[in-house]
Amino acid sequence: MKDNFYITTPIYYVNDKPHIGHAYTSIACDVMARFMRLDGRKVKFLSGTDEHGQKVEQSAKNLNITPQKLADENSKHFRELLKTLNISNDDFIRTTEARHKQGAQAFWKALVKSGYIYLGKYSGWYSVRDEAYYQESELVEGKAPTGAPVEWVEEPSYFFKLSAFEDRLLQFYEENPKFIAPEGRRNEVISFVKGGLKDLSISRTTFKWGIPVPGDESHVMYVWLDALTNYLTALGYPFHSTNMADFWPADLHMVGKDILRFHAVYWPAFLMAADMEPPLRIFAHGWWTNEGQKISKSLGNVIDPVALVENFGLDQIRYFLMREIPFGNDGDFSREKLIGRINSDLANNIGNLAQRVLSMINKNCGAKVPQYKFEESDKKLLSFAFVQADKIRNEIIYDQHFSRALELIGQIATRANEYVDANAPWKLKKENPERMEAVLYTLAECLRRIGLLLLAFIPDSANKLLDQLGVGSEQRLFHMVGAGHALKPGTALPEPQGIFPRWEEKV
Ligand code: MSP
Repeated sequence: MKDNFYITTPIYYVNDKPHIGHAYTSIACDVMARFMRLDGRKVKFLSGTDEHGQKVEQSAKNLNITPQKLADENSKHFRELLKTLNISNDDFIRTTEARHKQGAQAFWKALVKSGYIYLGKYSGWYSVRDEAYYQESELVEGKAPTGAPVEWVEEPSYFFKLSAFEDRLLQFYEENPKFIAPEGRRNEVISFVKGGLKDLSISRTTFKWGIPVPGDESHVMYVWLDALTNYLTALGYPFHSTNMADFWPADLHMVGKDILRFHAVYWPAFLMAADMEPPLRIFAHGWWTNEGQKISKSLGNVIDPVALVENFGLDQIRYFLMREIPFGNDGDFSREKLIGRINSDLANNIGNLAQRVLSMINKNCGAKVPQYKFEESDKKLLSFAFVQADKIRNEIIYDQHFSRALELIGQIATRANEYVDANAPWKLKKENPERMEAVLYTLAECLRRIGLLLLAFIPDSANKLLDQLGVGSEQRLFHMVGAGHALKPGTALPEPQGIFPRWEEKV
């Protein structure tokens, strides 16, 4: 496995404020990036904003401000959102930055040089909301398949010879079965490509808010060509740099299912045309509904992630989004389900375990990591946690199956709670204090493992748990989950504090 890992979020349109969808992709990428760092990789984690195109230009016009001003304001909101969500991105790119514009133009020139761009005339349907071209046959009752309105466009346009890449793309998918995930989405992409690819219009002349086409400034680049190149320009493309050498091809572009086609068809074709390697994997996640309803501005049910965090707590939201639905599926956001997860998984299972164990140690073991002489059942619990850790790693790094990984972590806590009940350490205090110490040691060590496994998902709470177990900050890597790094008896522990409060409805 290679040492470097490059992961990206989509870059977010600045026509509007951030919503739950943006938070979801960003958190999923963050979990992945954090896990890879804990697993010892050198990680580059990129996010940013997609600032050009007709949609942004129109939104700005409606607000009577310049597109640049709208972009500046909203890009800031996205940057703030990432901070609020504790996202650990190493870079944030804006497509209006000079480094990006230069790089995107250089990429265009590379496509011209290789002979894959020609001038023609586009006449057909375009959806500003989706920033996408549609064929007549794709329309449903006069609208885009996404439900977005379309308009008829006729204008001179540069085209990319996408049709020349049909066979190469199919061969590429065949040879790289893990390129598109999940499996069902992969099949959709393959049948789309098998259905035949038409050349793609990659420039517009009827508005101005975009990157000028090199050598013909009456055109601006199609916003998706501009946007996709962000993954390269953030590494310093077209210049040779250690970043380019270390991190291209990207390991994982995380995207929503609605933008899979751009990433899994157009992007690898552009890269092949520019004689560059395609990314290694595109994961398309599903969409959230709100209490069973499609989320839309017109329905007024857009979920504000910042308000959610203020109400319920950051790690509660991070946990819920990653735990509730298998990554890749669609899912429903509901207040009841959120509270259910907070109370049953976090407060009752993991939180209760931590609270019981830490306060018993505090009261009965002189606030120090207890001594131990293991019995079979102790070893059994710890080896269960160890074996689960390996499974969890596989679920995350190979499959991005975050909900399964959290389920497996929860199973460790469930077992540990059963072990508490079976061993009743509170009774052992008088009867057999030595045994009580061993039981509490086993539980504390089990909590250390749980803490390490939770770090990528809910870093603040996991760190708080590890702090209470006296685990040094340099002792928090994934490979340390085993016995070689186990807690040392006698280590002084701080005063325990609750980590996952129960959610009580205010009456
Ligand atoms: N600018 C493009 C991406 C360019 S990448 C080179 C874009 N931006 S976006 O702001 O509209 O969308 C960002 C992400 O939010 C997409 O991955 C999209 O799937 C996701 N979501 C938007 N609504 C969503 C839900 N209701 N649920 C989950 N994710 C959703 O597309």
